[in-house]
Amino acid sequence: MSTRPNSPAAKDIAYNLHPYTNARRHEESGPLIVDHGKGVHVYDDQGKEYIEGMGGLWCVALGFGEERLVKAATEQMQRLPYYHSFAQKSHEPSIELSERLLDMAPGELGKVFYANSGSEANDTVVKLVWYYNNALGRPNKKKIISRIKGYHGVTVASASLTGLPANHRDFDLPIDGIMHTACPHHYHNAFPGESEEEFASRMAGQLEEMILREGPDTVAAFIGEPVMGAGGVIVPPKTYWDKIQRVCRKYDVLVIADEVICGFGRTGEMFGSDVFDIKPDLLVVSKQITSAYMPLSAVLMTDQIYQAVADNTAKISTFGHGYTASAHPVATAVALENLKILEERKIVDHVKKVAPRLQDGLRRFADHPLVGEVRGIGLMAAVELVADKEQRSLFDPVGRVGFHLYDVAQKNGLILRNVGDSLAFCPPLIISEDEIDTLLDRFGQALDETYSWSTRTGVAAE
Ligand SMILES: Cc1ncc(COP(=O)(O)O)c(C=O)c1O
Repeated sequence: MSTRPNSPAAKDIAYNLHPYTNARRHEESGPLIVDHGKGVHVYDDQGKEYIEGMGGLWCVALGFGEERLVKAATEQMQRLPYYHSFAQKSHEPSIELSERLLDMAPGELGKVFYANSGSEANDTVVKLVWYYNNALGRPNKKKIISRIKGYHGVTVASASLTGLPANHRDFDLPIDGIMHTACPHHYHNAFPGESEEEFASRMAGQLEEMILREGPDTVAAFIGEPVMGAGGVIVPPKTYWDKIQRVCRKYDVLVIADEVICGFGRTGEMFGSDVFDIKPDLLVVSKQITSAYMPLSAVLMTDQIYQAVADNTAKISTFGHGYTASAHPVATAVALENLKILEERKIVDHVKKVAPRLQDGLRRFADHPLVGEVRGIGLMAAVELVADKEQRSLFDPVGRVGFHLYDVAQKNGLILRNVGDSLAFCPPLIISEDEIDTLLDRFGQALDETYSWSTRTGVAAE
């Protein structure tokens, strides 16, 4: 029996099954109830302040309490709170947003399809890839290659693309036709003495081997995040994407950039594709497109894909795909305003300016006895804790020390996320240098407390 049967916390335990949560642990310790937010801060129902070091779930670009987004939503709600985009219906916010997105996007992208989440967008991508190849009369060219530790969502197809065991285990996933190639994480996966360049070549070589083994006529697409996010913020070697794209082009394999985290300034460029010179055939965005004030995602595609798809819709008289809330007017109005603010306030330049404060600040922890690697780009980063710095060996079990640090940081007023024993950072893009300093102080304190705990309990060697 809960000791607070009528409290919101007790009700939460009683009524909610939480995503990405150990339900039994939740029954014991209950939720952190977040009440409101302002800028980079959120406040719980007891009034305690936290720096949101993850921008929620890698998404609140403009921070909390941005009045212009509230106004854009309110005005659109009053004018046209809902309309759909089936059967040749449209509305102004989605039309304007598409024009803006296509102007901003890397490469040669010509059409936009809207969904509501990153997962739905990636399911759309899988279906588009299949539909496209059927339209071209290539019914065998359907397999999609993703990567170990890639994260693309949790719906049936997108969870299959995701390359993390927890998203497959006991869900009977992945589905057939989705394969995972190696993760471009030099720190863990390079051979001793292998340079980043050699490692990148080996990664591309492995992709090529996989395509040849499966048969190039059966492989349709390769999907990757320019910088991996939820797999632990893994920045690939500089030339990795160039080499991967060459292999894809050689075998007529589509390149899909999942920019759900990287898109809209996170890396210090507008898109992660701009950092690595990726020319995607399909590009997926969500999260920061609305600063997550409204759910929205979009798939941008080349004209070549659109033309084949369009011909097929004419042949079978419809495109049998779409969501009730595809291109939702309120979500697209908020996105439009969000992108206007990003430009007006030169947020990408701001990220470029303040990112070194975060990246250099975190790298100062590299000598700490618990820290194996500090990595990141722009305003996304991770600090990985290891059992043995020399051997780069992991803690057993993985995640226990990382979770402890996450928990202590939260008690110290800093919300992070642990991916195993990597602590991820992805603060709102508007964060100031002073706020970054406070974030670093709180993290350093939590790291030291975690080290004391780990030596006291024998988890880590002294
Ligand atoms: C790169 C990437 N793709 C897709 C998704 C799935 O998005 P959603 O949680 O909105 O379904 C995420 C979520 O974190 C992501 O990081």
